Amino acid sequence: MAKTVEQIRSEYGTAGGRAFFAEGRFAVVNCTFKDGRNGRFATVELRDGTGSFTARAFDAPLVAGIDTAGAIDARVKVEEYNGSMSAIINAWDAAELSTDDILRLGGLDPDVHASRVATLDAWLDECDGTVYGDVLRACFAAPGTRDDFCMAPAAVRLHHAEPGGLVRHLVEVGLAGLALLDSTGEEYDRPYFLAGVFLHDLGKLDTYTLPPTISYTAAGLLGEHQVWSIFRLGKACAKVGVSASIEAKLVHIIEQAHGAYRHAQWQEPLGTEVKALANADFFSSRLGETDKERRSQEALDQLLADEASAGAARGFETLDADSEPSQPEAAGPVLF
Ligand SMILES: [Fe+2]
Ligand SMILES: [Fe+2]
Repeated sequence: MAKTVEQIRSEYGTAGGRAFFAEGRFAVVNCTFKDGRNGRFATVELRDGTGSFTARAFDAPLVAGIDTAGAIDARVKVEEYNGSMSAIINAWDAAELSTDDILRLGGLDPDVHASRVATLDAWLDECDGTVYGDVLRACFAAPGTRDDFCMAPAAVRLHHAEPGGLVRHLVEVGLAGLALLDSTGEEYDRPYFLAGVFLHDLGKLDTYTLPPTISYTAAGLLGEHQVWSIFRLGKACAKVGVSASIEAKLVHIIEQAHGAYRHAQWQEPLGTEVKALANADFFSSRLGETDKERRSQEALDQLLADEASAGAARGFETLDADSEPSQPEAAGPVLF
């Protein structure tokens, strides 16, 4: 019988390390290949509407074509390895699904996605009539760019690594950043901030393949997305003919949104719009749950469950109006 990711995780939770088999239908949202001792193997992230997990395929016939299947009906062996859930693919067939169904399985809710796209469209409209609006329109002018933008992921792994993930990330960054800016009670340049929202991760269109299966492109393997964002910005600025000062401001807001990384010397952030974007971007990018966070959550859930079954009643006794609070026994002066 087919199982969901949630059911597989819950069975793993109660299996106590015992291996078991499970079947299910999943989108292959991520696939990487590595060379191991016994040949090439694939590491895939399998997802359905209830969650995702990482699985590996070792035999050559199971490895071939898994990166282009989109969605699969798979049989996996699940067990514990180094304290974590390990899943090995025993068999799979490409699932016969429409592209929309594959995207849904990959985590894209079409209605929610449409409302996020509408939010971004409204922000884009707000920028019209400003130099930032001209630059943004130039960025989206090439045929197909907007469609790719709407479908693009924001990462291969970790945060917003799903169809439409870039749109979801940008809406979070925009809303969080505007809230930060509004909180100051000071005036700010709203079109400049919104331009930063759109531009800072535009290079992700160059670095990741489009869903269903998300991986690095050749461009992505050769340069980080923020470099490609700057590259797209440069081309748009040349087309529009903006001044050097506007170009420098836009380079700066893109650079600062990536200031959390330690691998390069960055300049100091200039202006509230830049600070708001950098902080909102960091917050949104940390919303993805890492394996370590998932393990911590499971440990906390277990602790709460143990307390509830063993001693939680003790915590509620004093709420009983009839019960007398216990008095400490008189034992002479208390010394601290
Ligand atoms: Fe980024
Ligand atoms: Fe970002």
